[in-house]
Amino acid sequence: RQPAVIAPSILSADFARLGAEVDAVIAAGADWVHFDVMDNHYVPNLTIGPLVCEALRKHGVKAPIDVHLMVKPVDRIIPDFAKAGATYISFHPEASEHIDRTIQLIRASGCKPGLVFNPATPLHYLDYVLDQLDLILIMSVNPGFGGQSFIPSALEKLRQVRERIDRSGRAIRLEIDGGVKPENIGEIAAAGADTFVAGSAIFGKPDYAAVVRDMRAAIDG
Ligand code: DX5
Ligand code: ZN
Repeated sequence: RQPAVIAPSILSADFARLGAEVDAVIAAGADWVHFDVMDNHYVPNLTIGPLVCEALRKHGVKAPIDVHLMVKPVDRIIPDFAKAGATYISFHPEASEHIDRTIQLIRASGCKPGLVFNPATPLHYLDYVLDQLDLILIMSVNPGFGGQSFIPSALEKLRQVRERIDRSGRAIRLEIDGGVKPENIGEIAAAGADTFVAGSAIFGKPDYAAVVRDMRAAIDG
């Protein structure tokens, strides 16, 4: 198993002080920046785009930026995010007309492709593309908002994907997103996740380092 990655979702950060917030979570021991992109079309909310990603890079953020696209159509925004400094770019199969082509586009843009599964999206989308992915993201809430409760069926999905990844022998990250907190992260890690997105659980607390520490302890425990 690859070392655990904690990826705070800046959706729950203070957007008026975004650069300082990202510096603070990285100083607190987080590994990646999870960057939620919503378009008020594929999901019912509107957030941030390539300009903000680029601004974080210009601010001096060196950590991997994990772009989670919740937009439709998806292809035309990919080169912009690559130019803006994205590391991973993940998308929802329902938002792409040609999933294989979108994955290739992310790769050709110099980024690492990820595929995202909503709570009711079946895993068969992996059948022909798993070998091209660097990340698989299991949603444990319906996308659109931070602060929702973890949907338990995501655990069984994680177990199934973990098996498929292990069988492939490739170093594909297995990421979980939605309702993750120190109280449930141990169980989530046991189900096979190695990459943990958390928004409200981290940014909702005054001491980010304490939350990150509690999360790592629960993952290792
Ligand atoms: C939901 C987003 C998540 C969200 C997680 O659509 O993809 O990244 O910010 O927030 P929490 O951790 O509060 O559930
Ligand atoms: Zn997300």
